[in-house]
Amino acid sequence: MQDKILEILIKSDNYVSGQSISEKLGVSRQAVWKAIKSLKDREYKIDSITNKGYRLVSFPSYLNEKGIKTHLNTKIIGKELIVLDSVGSTNDYLKNLGSNGCKNGTVVAAREQINGKGRIGRAWEMKKDDCIAFSFILRPNIAPREVSSVTPLAGLAVCKAIREFTGLDCMIKWPNDIIVGRKKLVGILTEMSAEFDAVEYIVTGIGINTDTAEFPEDIAVKATSVFLETSNYPDKNKFLACVLKHIEDEFIKNNLKLTESALSEYTDMCATIGRNVTLQKDNQSISGTAVGIDKSGELKIMLSDGTIYLVNSGEVTIQGIY
Ligand code: BTN
Repeated sequence: MQDKILEILIKSDNYVSGQSISEKLGVSRQAVWKAIKSLKDREYKIDSITNKGYRLVSFPSYLNEKGIKTHLNTKIIGKELIVLDSVGSTNDYLKNLGSNGCKNGTVVAAREQINGKGRIGRAWEMKKDDCIAFSFILRPNIAPREVSSVTPLAGLAVCKAIREFTGLDCMIKWPNDIIVGRKKLVGILTEMSAEFDAVEYIVTGIGINTDTAEFPEDIAVKATSVFLETSNYPDKNKFLACVLKHIEDEFIKNNLKLTESALSEYTDMCATIGRNVTLQKDNQSISGTAVGIDKSGELKIMLSDGTIYLVNSGEVTIQGIY
């Protein structure tokens, strides 16, 4: 019933009387009053005036479906939207939905993850409501080898959204982090389910540090948040709607490929280019200068003898960044 009352209040710009709500929903005035109280307890700001009724003033600051949908202007990404209070990992949750046939573009966001996953088996830790943690699913008709453009395109979209929404001068750290200065603001993890020659689905999970005021000592040297960089807590619902719009635009515009224009924008925003990098591979250490990205998203490293080495996996250490 709380959801139905919310819908009525969202649709009306003015006060709605308790009487008309109770008639519409076929419940008592007392039940309406109780539901309004519960909504207020959930941080919905609702103005109530005797003889006039109720008016929705603002949504809670934490991630919630209604708050995101009010700002969402997409056709595919987030049309199906699930927002959870707590989950192990939004990627795992969505992969499960993916295996059960959920729609292309479905988004799962969570206020809290208790088993958040990072790349290379690492954990992604967050406190409740300190981070925008979400995943989206794509069901493209492409071969598994073409999936390599998904993460760079997502990185490009998120970087643009953050610049637009927060004004921060963020950059991409190849392959899939967004950084401010030398510190990480966003992590991206793409996973897929595929047959030998066909992709069943791709799930991309993104964690944006928004509200963290203090990181644990060992992480503080390499992580940052929108709050730490701007002294403001962003409206997470509006922010996520903006990120989803950028993701959809980037994927549609480039038809899921690292096109020349996407590649050129990615390269301009990539903090890795021009730096000395070291790659650990098969117990070997390879050093050189990052000189570009190729069209499958691989990093081009120029070695001291002038040869170009392409990197698509492994951990690259970039001098000057964490
Ligand atoms: C990394 O930097 O290593 C990748 C971090 C990815 C974190 C996000 S948060 C939402 C989604 N769910 C997860 O379990 N991980 C990703």
